[in-house]
Amino acid sequence: GLLTGGAAAVGGALVGAATAVAASSDEPAPVVRMKDVDYGHAIEPFHGRRQSGVDTRPQAFASFVGFTLKPGTDRAALGRMLRLLTDDAARLTQGRPALGDTEAELALLPARLTVTFGFGPGLYEAAGLAARRPASAVDLPAFAIDRLQARWSGGDLLLQICADDATTVAHAQRMLIKDARPFAAVRWVQRGFRRGRGVESDGATHRNLMGQLDGTVNPVVGSPSYDPAVWVRDGPVWLKDSTTLVLRRIRMEIETWDKLSRTDKELAVGRKLDTGAPLTGEREHDEPDFTAVDSVGLPVMPNFAHVTRAHVSDERLRILRRPYSYDGEPDAAGVPDSGLIFAAFQADIAQQYVPIQKRLAEQDLMNQWTTPIGSAVFAIPPGCAEGGWVGEQVLS
Ligand code: HEM
Repeated sequence: GLLTGGAAAVGGALVGAATAVAASSDEPAPVVRMKDVDYGHAIEPFHGRRQSGVDTRPQAFASFVGFTLKPGTDRAALGRMLRLLTDDAARLTQGRPALGDTEAELALLPARLTVTFGFGPGLYEAAGLAARRPASAVDLPAFAIDRLQARWSGGDLLLQICADDATTVAHAQRMLIKDARPFAAVRWVQRGFRRGRGVESDGATHRNLMGQLDGTVNPVVGSPSYDPAVWVRDGPVWLKDSTTLVLRRIRMEIETWDKLSRTDKELAVGRKLDTGAPLTGEREHDEPDFTAVDSVGLPVMPNFAHVTRAHVSDERLRILRRPYSYDGEPDAAGVPDSGLIFAAFQADIAQQYVPIQKRLAEQDLMNQWTTPIGSAVFAIPPGCAEGGWVGEQVLS
């Protein structure tokens, strides 16, 4: 609270100072004291009835690590692994070294580090507890648009590691993988990023690598429909305060996308590139008017535009999109390897995610320039109190 407030106030002053410098360049540049913009020591809570990393305003960097359990990792072994992982995640997120940390100094700047644990269907099987798996946490049905690769799909255990600093993420990832090693093999790692902290005001909508403002219509933490959309609010202890995650790796076909005119790019989504406003509006958060028609009677928001197809009017059935961009190595010809690590949280995948994905797979102009190449689903079990461990409600 205090930290954020202070940083915001200084952030405001900084912007003012920068403007002043541009106006009269012969004045000395103002001294920026980095200790006042202390993003490095900023901390997110670890303990609580719900895990962090869902409601948390997205940090600048993420690493999604998917694991395959080794044969013999049963209910008791899972408990041992999760105790170790919880203990180190609790330390690292609070800016303290992991147990036996080999690079203790790297742990001292948490930069809002969060570690979020996800359980794939295989974990419940391995524990002999299939009945405790949230019913909707199963592989998605196949969609005609899918070009899924095994190397980005599935997984028994997920660690979603997010922080405003890439060094912090790398260190946490290394320490946590070390804990998991006796029990689980790394299946895939997906690294992503958003704008760096301080580059834009906190809370500004993220721009993806297609240049679009991405995240305009999203459940808002604290609004009446937020909790029903994102969290399971009752049921047995292993479900209450849980949620689910759908993780899709979606390649952007940048080569062909770049051949489109600006107008066509805007028609494909149904929103303007500069402001993010709907084609029927002026400002980013204006409500789109799906009934508006132009002079020749065509809908201004095309029926096949991404937001027309994706729109959900019942706010309690919306999904929480918390995506990260990825940008791998271009091939020898210079073709980019760019896309979105599309992370969606919702109380129930079957009720919320699947109907949207079905409508998009049937008809969405954006399908021509986006290709799902990975897919995984995880239950995000409840959080734990100090002294407890993530998964205790499921595995005890
Ligand atoms: C809205 C981009 C994939 C669900 C949007 C918007 C953009 C966008 C630019 C408009 C601004 C906003 O409200 O955020 C993309 C890109 C994708 C992608 C580039 C793939 C690379 C998906 C997928 C789903 C999805 C896979 C779910 C299955 C939604 C929803 C909205 C939305 C629910 C809000 C619709 C509304 O206005 O009510 N997306 N999206 N998107 N997208 Fe996507």
